[in-house]
Amino acid sequence: MSRTPLIAGNWKMHKTGPEAVDSAKRLAQLSEGVADVDIMIAPTSLALPLVSQAVAGTQVRVGAQNLYFEKQGAFTGEVSGDMIRAAGAEYVLIGHSERRQFFGDTDALVCRKTRAALDAGLIPVVCIGETEKERDEEKTFFVLDKQVSDGLKGFGLEEIRTLVLAYEPVWAIGTGKTASVEQVEEVHRFLRKTLEEKFSGALAKETRILYGGSVKPDNVKDLMSIEDVDGALVGGASLDADKFINIIRYQ
Ligand code: PGA
Repeated sequence: MSRTPLIAGNWKMHKTGPEAVDSAKRLAQLSEGVADVDIMIAPTSLALPLVSQAVAGTQVRVGAQNLYFEKQGAFTGEVSGDMIRAAGAEYVLIGHSERRQFFGDTDALVCRKTRAALDAGLIPVVCIGETEKERDEEKTFFVLDKQVSDGLKGFGLEEIRTLVLAYEPVWAIGTGKTASVEQVEEVHRFLRKTLEEKFSGALAKETRILYGGSVKPDNVKDLMSIEDVDGALVGGASLDADKFINIIRYQ
């Protein structure tokens, strides 16, 4: 079973609408002819319609950085899965560590948001990862197991066929510290086994597991050569299309 790698750019709270459109167009131009790699960028929600239009018909797909789990209603400031889908996005990041750290996203919320994303026809990219303290205390596997169990609680096999999992050790995000090949290898193998035990061997084989945390043009090749790494979620190094393309063209 081959898994098409996914290289995703998380633009966080960077770039206004027009800036996002410019970068997205540049990236679409540079990625012409890229084969066997899925490409996704997640700009600010405000830019989703503009960016989706700008990259229509190209290799570049668009994702949101968050969603709310309700379909509609009196939830000031929130954005629903249907709104994201209607804006032209196909993916949505869920449970990014910055959401968990600054906005109170818990595993229970991740679970509801994942359900909402799937109901809206979006591909959820569910982010998990341990903090430095948790790693030092040797709780990494315990934490990841809990994030998967509680974040994906109650889903049937068929429902989460499109799910993408992103392992992002919190201590490696935006710090310039990348997890070592051995650390990533160990965790990704563990995550695939966890999916197998909690869901099925077939699902475990099909599910893409991305690595995220200070991925750069000069370390992407090593990371992508790890058997259970099926792509990258890239923050800082995705902001400049001329740099990001070197991650996308890692082969
Ligand atoms: P980084 O961010 O590549 O800047 O470390 C990764 C992420 O937050 O997804």
